[in-house]
Amino acid sequence: MPSFDLGSPVNTALLLYILYSVQRILFPITSSPKSTPNEFKAGYSWMPKAHPPTVLFKTYTPKTLEPFSGQDGGRILLAINGTVFDVTAGRNFYGPNGMYGNFAGRDASRGMAKQSFDLEMLTPVDQPLDKLEDLQNDEIDNMKGWIDHFSNKYIVCGKLVENDAI
Ligand code: HEM
Ligand SMILES: *[C@@H]1O[C@H](CO)[C@@H](O)[C@H](O)[C@H]1NC(C)=O
Repeated sequence: MPSFDLGSPVNTALLLYILYSVQRILFPITSSPKSTPNEFKAGYSWMPKAHPPTVLFKTYTPKTLEPFSGQDGGRILLAINGTVFDVTAGRNFYGPNGMYGNFAGRDASRGMAKQSFDLEMLTPVDQPLDKLEDLQNDEIDNMKGWIDHFSNKYIVCGKLVENDAI
């Protein structure tokens, strides 16, 4: 009948291997690597190479929103009905050569409601916010449709308030 014989070199080797494996589980190597491992051989790391991008929810005014027009290749933000969306991923639409570039860095509510990207849809950035009180129901519905579209596609990154509110 076969029995466990510590005297057998194979069993001894296996036992040592098991003990080694168990101590690796109980006492994992906690020192962090000097540099980011960039190949499998360098070992598995739970840490991603870089921290994933984060978006800070901020309060914007027409004046502080305006610089986010993507002119400089930077972030592109726009607001609809007080909600600020980060539409940087839609640079083709809102970048300097984009069809909807007028909306970049601006309150796009009226244009979204009236389905027009004409400049007269925009409220000058030094003026009070567009109250949108004259909009018809179908225009409000249209704007709501765009809010849904933007909510599904982009990240909400802030709210838009009056220039003198912060
Ligand atoms: C000449 C007429 C127009 C044409 C041919 C046109 C064409 C397009 C096309 C092809 C898309 C891309 C759809 C997609 O891939 O999801 C789009 C999106 C869009 N269009 Fe138009 N469009 C026109 C007029 C307008 C007008 C007048 C507005 C004014 C509000 C507008 C606002 C938008 C917006 C906000 C988007 C979404 C962009 C995004 O997802 O970030 N379009 N349009
Ligand atoms: C626009 O914002 C106002 C105030 O927050 C809200 O009462 C209204 O329902 C919003 N309209 C749409 C179409 O989301």
